[in-house]
Amino acid sequence: MAKRIVVTGGSGKAGRHVIQYLLSAGHSVLNLDLVILANPSVHTLKTDVTDSGQVFNALTTHFNWDGYEGTSLPTPADAVIHLAAYPDNMIVPDNATFKTNVISTYNVIEAACKLGVKKIIIASSETTYGVCCAQGDADFHSFPLEEDYDVDPMDSYALSKICGEQNARAFARRFKVDIYALRIGNVIEPHEYATDFANFVNNPASRKRNAWSYIDARDLGKICDLCVKKDGLGFQVFNATNDTITTKVPTMEFLRSACPNVPITREMGEWEAPLSNRKIKEVLGFEEDHNWRKYVSL
Ligand SMILES: NC(=O)c1ccc[n+]([C@@H]2O[C@H](COP(=O)([O-])OP(=O)(O)OC[C@H]3O[C@@H](n4cnc5c(N)ncnc54)[C@H](O)[C@@H]3O)[C@@H](O)[C@H]2O)c1
Repeated sequence: MAKRIVVTGGSGKAGRHVIQYLLSAGHSVLNLDLVILANPSVHTLKTDVTDSGQVFNALTTHFNWDGYEGTSLPTPADAVIHLAAYPDNMIVPDNATFKTNVISTYNVIEAACKLGVKKIIIASSETTYGVCCAQGDADFHSFPLEEDYDVDPMDSYALSKICGEQNARAFARRFKVDIYALRIGNVIEPHEYATDFANFVNNPASRKRNAWSYIDARDLGKICDLCVKKDGLGFQVFNATNDTITTKVPTMEFLRSACPNVPITREMGEWEAPLSNRKIKEVLGFEEDHNWRKYVSL
């Protein structure tokens, strides 16, 4: 069924593909971003999500100019997908990364809950697993990386994402709504397979921080759509990654050789991504469309 969905940060790397997927699935979308998205099918309301007043206001706005034609005033969206953030350390000083990401996630979740939105999806990150932005070479505790892992990052960006997850948990409990936090893997756009991805595969040491895993930006859109469709789960954390490891060697053989001191706690699929998407497949029925092997010649 077509839904009305507000996306924050929809003009960015992940967001523009997420929005395109949602539009192609028949949904209506309003984009809240500081930057206007170059997509004539979606309206961008220039909104600073660090400003709670602007967020409350934007969530009570028409999705586009057509909204002024009838007599109906704006109603709450069916879902809010919150992607706006500083998506890494080193873009602004650490305290600004932390402050912007934590307060914007708080603002979006609070406003959505208090305005009656029943489904909220937020961007968490692979970095919460503590290796991506670690100081020096760190090891994961165990493989596969799954949602019950004891996340222990040491950097400000990942810490901001942990705060976002806790924020989601608190509001889901209080307002009895669904808030799903996606621990998004390294986002790959279509044009990146021909360039960066071949290097990842040929130089696996360079991908330890990403746990030799990734998410195709279009498949991330599919995951967001599945999250919109699946009701009644309350607070959830889902890894958002594609199915397979980004190496030429099968998963367990590769991990035993690359990380000999890290235990593997269950039998993994032959090519299963170490940042495993098993939960999102089992719970939401996710099936990837864009495996990297379709686009990278070995
Ligand atoms: N890119 C990745 O590999 C990756 C991996 C894991 C998680 N994530 C998360 O996914 C989300 C999207 O990441 P991305 O790579 O598309 O980032 P991006 O920087 O390309 O896009 C972020 C968007 O948010 C907007 N934005 C930033 N501050 C804002 C504010 N105060 N108000 C309104 N809009 C604001 C920006 O203008 C931009 O369009 C982020 O939350 C990021 O932390 C990304």
